[in-house]
Amino acid sequence: MADTLTVAGPGPSAPVPEFPMPRAAGCPFDPPPGLGAAREEGPLTKVRLWDGKDYWLLTRYADQRAVLLDPRVSADLTRPGYPLQAPSNGTNNISFILMDDPEHARLRRMVTAPFAIKRVEALRPAVQKIVDDLIDEMLAGPHPVDLVEAFALPVPSLVICALLGVPYDDHDFFQENSKVLIRRDADMADRAAAHGKLVGYLDQLMGEKTAHPGDDLLSGLVARVRSGELTRTDAAQMGVLLLLAGHETTANMIALGTLALLEHPEQLALLRDTDDPKLIASAVEELLRYLSIVHGGRRRAVLADIEVAGQVIRAGEGVIMPNDLANRDPEAFPDPDRLDLTRDARRHVAFGFGVHQCLGQPLARMELQVVYGTLYRRVPGLRAAAGIGELPFKHDGSVYGVHELPVTW
Ligand code: HEM
Repeated sequence: MADTLTVAGPGPSAPVPEFPMPRAAGCPFDPPPGLGAAREEGPLTKVRLWDGKDYWLLTRYADQRAVLLDPRVSADLTRPGYPLQAPSNGTNNISFILMDDPEHARLRRMVTAPFAIKRVEALRPAVQKIVDDLIDEMLAGPHPVDLVEAFALPVPSLVICALLGVPYDDHDFFQENSKVLIRRDADMADRAAAHGKLVGYLDQLMGEKTAHPGDDLLSGLVARVRSGELTRTDAAQMGVLLLLAGHETTANMIALGTLALLEHPEQLALLRDTDDPKLIASAVEELLRYLSIVHGGRRRAVLADIEVAGQVIRAGEGVIMPNDLANRDPEAFPDPDRLDLTRDARRHVAFGFGVHQCLGQPLARMELQVVYGTLYRRVPGLRAAAGIGELPFKHDGSVYGVHELPVTW
């Protein structure tokens, strides 16, 4: 069948745009205009990465989902054609997120139970208390205050620390090193050093848990090391993945989501004036869709020829699937550039799709529901203490957000 298909690509004279692309000044919530232009070209186009090589960019929601489900594409960054985010020496491999089945599934299964919906729901009262306490502290302190430092980072960090059994007192250390690890412009040595420090830290912590096991996820991994199911290194790398993914992402959704709401006061009013769990849950999905913070594009290497939108992508080539573009595809979401907390946005791909779909999504959803359902009702006068043009956005990170968000009330 593949013989009858054409091989996709821009015309010979068309310049290949570089990826990632800059966002437009003044439109911090929208995907880069260059991505919109790519969509105009069609479902498939080529982009050039930092290594000077060209990779396929998939612009449509439906095609991205189909490819992310396809076992002929690989998440293993050592495969030929994989579109590397930045130079890599292969050592900063962050566990099963960069592995294929069956090993990916084997490792993922070891940590799925604590993230199941029922287990996560049982944590809701504790998360509510964390959120209420942090708001109390914020209200009692001076303002303006940086919402990122005072609230957005501590909420998910406290939660993931409790779940994993990591001492929260070490948050400066793991937050700093996590930041380096996901910075697109960090050089290879810095990223490898940050990864090494985090793996060493988790390994030491697990060593302590061998002698004094607790009722936490890391102690569960230690038991699997003992039974020979896991190596110590695999366990430590898994710990790094969970710690990093567990706090950075949700923190950015809290701060950037708050900023987006402050910029859309009529939408903020909907949340401030309700305690309807359905509306709050819908707001979470819509903000996940609208902001698509894990915006570097899902990246995969093609293992055997595949067909996308009637064209062939060859084995050994790489594909990039920006979920910010998929989540603004008008065929999937009518009037996609409008933030509308009442729309049904549940089919978004902000958590990815396919076998690597976010493991922590029930936890992230619950945390965001508690935050969005509490913060604006308890601080009804909340407002930004800096103009949007003055804010430092995370253009440099593979997770998008704001570095700081000064607020007052
Ligand atoms: C709003 C918050 C979050 C967003 C937007 C988000 C987004 C994502 C995305 C897009 C992926 C797919 C990666 C890929 O296909 O290559 C992913 C995977 C993953 N996420 Fe999340 N995430 C969030 C919160 C969390 C939390 C709280 C955890 C808890 C530990 C977590 C753990 C993971 C893990 C372990 C994977 C890898 C899954 C696999 O490879 O099988 N995430 N996440």
